[in-house]
Amino acid sequence: MRNIQVNGDRLWRSLMEMAEIGATPKGGVCRLALTDLDRDGRRLFIRWCEEAGCQVRIDRMGNIFARRPGRNPDAPAVMTGSHLDTQPTGGKFDGAYGVLAGLEVVRTLNDLGYETEAPIEVVVWTNEEGSRFSPAMIGSGVYAGVFSLDEGLATPDNVTRVTMGAELQRIGFAGSEPCGGRKVAAYFEAHIEQGPILEAAGKPIGIVEGAQGQRWYEITVTGQEAHAGPTPMRRRKDALVGAARMIDAVNRIGHAHPPYACATVGFVQVGPNSRNTIPGRVFFTVDFRHPEDAVLTEMDRELREACREAARSAQVEVEVKEFWYFPPTPFDKDCVAAVRRAAEAQGYASQSIISGAGHDAVYMARVAPTAMVFVPCKDGISHNEVEDAKPEDLSMGCTVLLNAILERANAPAEGARR
Ligand code: GLV
Ligand code: MN
Ligand code: MN
Repeated sequence: MRNIQVNGDRLWRSLMEMAEIGATPKGGVCRLALTDLDRDGRRLFIRWCEEAGCQVRIDRMGNIFARRPGRNPDAPAVMTGSHLDTQPTGGKFDGAYGVLAGLEVVRTLNDLGYETEAPIEVVVWTNEEGSRFSPAMIGSGVYAGVFSLDEGLATPDNVTRVTMGAELQRIGFAGSEPCGGRKVAAYFEAHIEQGPILEAAGKPIGIVEGAQGQRWYEITVTGQEAHAGPTPMRRRKDALVGAARMIDAVNRIGHAHPPYACATVGFVQVGPNSRNTIPGRVFFTVDFRHPEDAVLTEMDRELREACREAARSAQVEVEVKEFWYFPPTPFDKDCVAAVRRAAEAQGYASQSIISGAGHDAVYMARVAPTAMVFVPCKDGISHNEVEDAKPEDLSMGCTVLLNAILERANAPAEGARR
C-alpha cells in the first residue's frame, strides 16, 4: 500500500482539544513543563494512545513512549514525536503538532488495518522548551546521553528552584523505564517552521536538512546597592547600567553577522528590584544561534569582549558563563531523502530548509538516523499566542510524516539487508 493519507480533520480536532489545556485568553497556550497543566496534557495523550491500542511506557525523565506493535517484535522501533510543554505565551502548534501528528499516523494505520514490520512509537519528550527549566531539550538530551539522568533530574526551575525530579514525582510522571540505551531504527519529527520561509515561498512542506547551532550564556553583573537619592552619579556601581550596555551589545552582535545570526536576551532578573535602590545585581541570559560553528565562535569572542568593556565603563564586575551549546547538526541523508520521497509521491510542493529552532530531533540525531518535516505557520510567528497554521498544511505534513515512517518501518532489518 503506497501513498496513504492521514485524516486531517481528526488531526485538527485533536490539536484543538489539546490546546484547551492551558488555553490563554488571546488564543494561545501556557502549559509549562511539569506543571499540573502539562500533567493534564500528558494524561489526555495517554488516553488517546491507549484508545488507539498502544502500549504506553514512561521513562525516568518522564518521557512517554506509546508503542504500536509491528510484525517483528524484536525490530527496533521507528520513533516519532515532539513535546507538549509550551512557552509562557506559547501557541497551539509548537510541539503539540509533532506529538499529535504521530498519534494521527497510528490512528490512520489502525483504520487501514496496516501492519508494519517494525513497531512505531510516538514519543512525548519532557521539557523541550527550556523556559521553566533550562536548558531546552532535557528529556531527549538525557535519552541521547548528552546529560546524565542525575543532571536532568536536578535541573532547577529558573525562578522557584524546585527540581525537575521533584516535579516529575509530584505530577506522577517519574517513570520506571531506563532513559535511553535502546536502539531506535529512525526518528522523524513534524513541526511548524516557526519562521517565514515556507510561507513566503508558498510551499506546504519543508524538508529539514539540519538545525543551526546554539550557544546559551548566563551572565551575572555585580555592582553595589546604594540609595537612589544621596549617591552621586559618578560614585555609582549600577549593575543594571552595566547589564543594559551588555544587552545592547548582544543585539549589535546579532546584527553584525547577517543574514543568519540570531542573538536574544529573553530573561532578566534585577536585584533588589526596588525603585529607589541602585541595582546591585543583574542576572540575564543570552541565546546565540548560527548555522556555522565558526561564526558562533566569533560571536562568543565579541560577547566576552563587549561584557568586559561594559563592566569597565560601568564600574561593575561581570561573570560570563557559557551555559549550553550544541553545534550545527546535519540530519541523516537517508531519512531526509525518505521525507523528500514522501512529499514527491504526494505531489506536494516542498523545499529544503535548515531549522532555526532547537528540537528534540537535534539530540535524537546523535543516537538514531533522524529527519524532520516542517509546515508553514502564519506570518512566520511562533513562541507567541497568535501562532497559527492551516489545517491543510498540517494534514499534508502529517501525510509526509506517515509515508516517511512507513518507508523505514517496512525496511528490512539491518543485517538482513544484503
Ligand atoms: C525551542 O523552542 C527553541 O528555543 O528553539
Ligand atoms: Mn517545539
Ligand atoms: Mn518552542
